[in-house]
Amino acid sequence: MDSDERLLALLRAGEFVSGEAIAETLGISRAAVGKRVDNLRRRGFAIAAAPRRGYRLDGEPDALTADVVATRLTTAWLGRAWRHHARVGSTNDEAAAWARAPEPAPHGAVVVADAQDAGRGRLGRKWHSPPGESLYLSVVLRPPLPPHRVPPMTLAAGVAVAEAMVAFDVTPALKWPNDVQLDGKKVAGILTEMSADLDRVHHLVVGIGVNLNTQAFPDELAAIATSVAAARGAAVARAEFAAALCARLEHWVDTFVADGAAAVVTAWKQHARFFGTRVRVTAGRDRVEGVAEDLDDDGALRLRLDDGSAYRVVAGEVSA
Ligand code: BTN
Repeated sequence: MDSDERLLALLRAGEFVSGEAIAETLGISRAAVGKRVDNLRRRGFAIAAAPRRGYRLDGEPDALTADVVATRLTTAWLGRAWRHHARVGSTNDEAAAWARAPEPAPHGAVVVADAQDAGRGRLGRKWHSPPGESLYLSVVLRPPLPPHRVPPMTLAAGVAVAEAMVAFDVTPALKWPNDVQLDGKKVAGILTEMSADLDRVHHLVVGIGVNLNTQAFPDELAAIATSVAAARGAAVARAEFAAALCARLEHWVDTFVADGAAAVVTAWKQHARFFGTRVRVTAGRDRVEGVAEDLDDDGALRLRLDDGSAYRVVAGEVSA
């Protein structure tokens, strides 16, 4: 932590903190405390100062810039390289370009944007990406995995999104393979894209879109989409959510790479609500209908068909 971040940690702990206490804890002079406070104010933090009482943090900027998010980031490697854009086509494209650049994005590099002009979902769908209200985030990963073992990474990201949401007082439901829902409506989605040869992944881009503060969706989405703020009845600070998500994602990526898919699958199932329901699945040219029974340890969906047989779906699209 640099001294700005240590000062923020002190101020975040509570009410007024005296200049003397800050100077002592940080090992700097009182004059240096004043300079640090001014510096934080320039960065958008609202800090009240009162004679004899000291300083109090009254507000934090809700920007997704590297310096603002860094004050909240608790990760070891995920998000430690960070690029923020006001507007891009798609953060997945930016992340992929960075991954292939002469100075390539390291494992865990993040690209975020305030808005996307060409945000996309699975199967060529558009991802509604209006400015300033939600999170559009893509992570470059370089896991030591062969390509056929990659699909559970999407499940790992789903668990991370679900856990971050729980920390913001809502209870999401995961829908296989990449949907996150609140109150039966879509609140987040994951788009994992891969560059690989036959036996080795070069890089993955895990793109995560989370509707955070959207209150009104376009007509075609109004019945099927919601946001975290709409569900909890209070706005969500994007930077805070982004940092929470990075922490959970780092944990689940590490777990998946170290221990394999089974631990991820077990956690994923704890947030799933659709087992026991009847679903239709489109997997390549196959269309089948059956009851969603379970996930196998490798993350594949197991259906029970009407003739009593089991049917495994490794990749596909599920609708109710
Ligand atoms: C889906 O549910 O179909 C996946 C949606 C993924 C959207 C995110 S937003 C950040 C990243 N950039 C994109 O263009 N897509 C993903």
